[in-house]
Amino acid sequence: MLQEFTALESSALAALEHVSALKDLEGWRVAYLGRKGSLTTLLKTLGTLAPEDRRAAGARANEVKARLESRQAEREAALRERSADALVDREPIDVTLPGHPLTIGRLHPTTRMIREITVALTALGFQTVEGPEVELDHYNFEALNIPPEHPARDMWDTMWLDYPAKNGQRPLLRTHTSPMQVRYMEAHKPPVRIVVPGKVYRYEATDATHEWHFNQVEGLAVDRNVTFADLKGTLYEFARRMFGVQRKVRFRCDYFPFVEPGAEMAIDCFLCDGKGCRVCRETGWIEIMGAGMVHPKVLENAGYDPKVYTGYAFGMGVERIAMLKYGIDDIRHFYSNDLRFLHQF
Ligand code: PHE
Repeated sequence: MLQEFTALESSALAALEHVSALKDLEGWRVAYLGRKGSLTTLLKTLGTLAPEDRRAAGARANEVKARLESRQAEREAALRERSADALVDREPIDVTLPGHPLTIGRLHPTTRMIREITVALTALGFQTVEGPEVELDHYNFEALNIPPEHPARDMWDTMWLDYPAKNGQRPLLRTHTSPMQVRYMEAHKPPVRIVVPGKVYRYEATDATHEWHFNQVEGLAVDRNVTFADLKGTLYEFARRMFGVQRKVRFRCDYFPFVEPGAEMAIDCFLCDGKGCRVCRETGWIEIMGAGMVHPKVLENAGYDPKVYTGYAFGMGVERIAMLKYGIDDIRHFYSNDLRFLHQF
């Protein structure tokens, strides 16, 4: 009996040596240690032995069982290690290397510029509001003191919408953000202090400085006793916040039908400090917006009494300011979706 155990032990261990894959190890266990395995079968015959032999045989049996179990565990550990090594050989991944960085989205330069402008103005007490991009002739032109057939309409080449006219009104894509002046005043009592960012559209051939679509920021302040000095003070402070503390501001007469007097505002060139360079076309000045005192007719059209209330308005092109600020030489970059351009902001 004792010899049988020894024989079983050595054949089991020899067989274990031949198990070369983890998946075959279970088969080996079942064959020797399983419920119907060789060792178990042998153990069942212990009962047939004489009691004095049974003891020694039982002890030997336990010894063999324990040995086989511990060898099985060793073998399993060795096989696991080997299969991990093989995996590394097959797919050499260095898990300590840093992973691929995620590309994180960022704000479009136009969006950033709009935010910068509106933040500078809200800090001065203006409130941001938005208006519709599809407008009526009334708000885009007539209420702004630009009657049909008025030559000033040539200042804004318009994209008309192919919709049937309602009440003689043909819808259009707004050519500027100024229509919100009247819309807002119609719906709110004075005092008014608003800033209106938004998309505008013009029927225009595109080139480096013209797009058929761009963004503007409009400003409007109306109250009793608002004067041109308020306009200048506000825009001066705005220019300091946007372009730096030592900026000089220049106002020159300009014409817009909805303001009187009308002005164009320029700052001294922040690149050359007014000495003259490519950006300011050697003039030392950069025009950044149109402005003026709200025309009495516009106040009237909005239901405000021009004898009681006065106001100022201004409007600027967002992309133009971004181009000046960041030295961008072609306005078409803003809508080309070229990542090489966008990644720079
Ligand atoms: N709406 C004018 C434009 O688009 C700009 C402007 C706004 C001028 C407000 C004066 C006052 O050209």
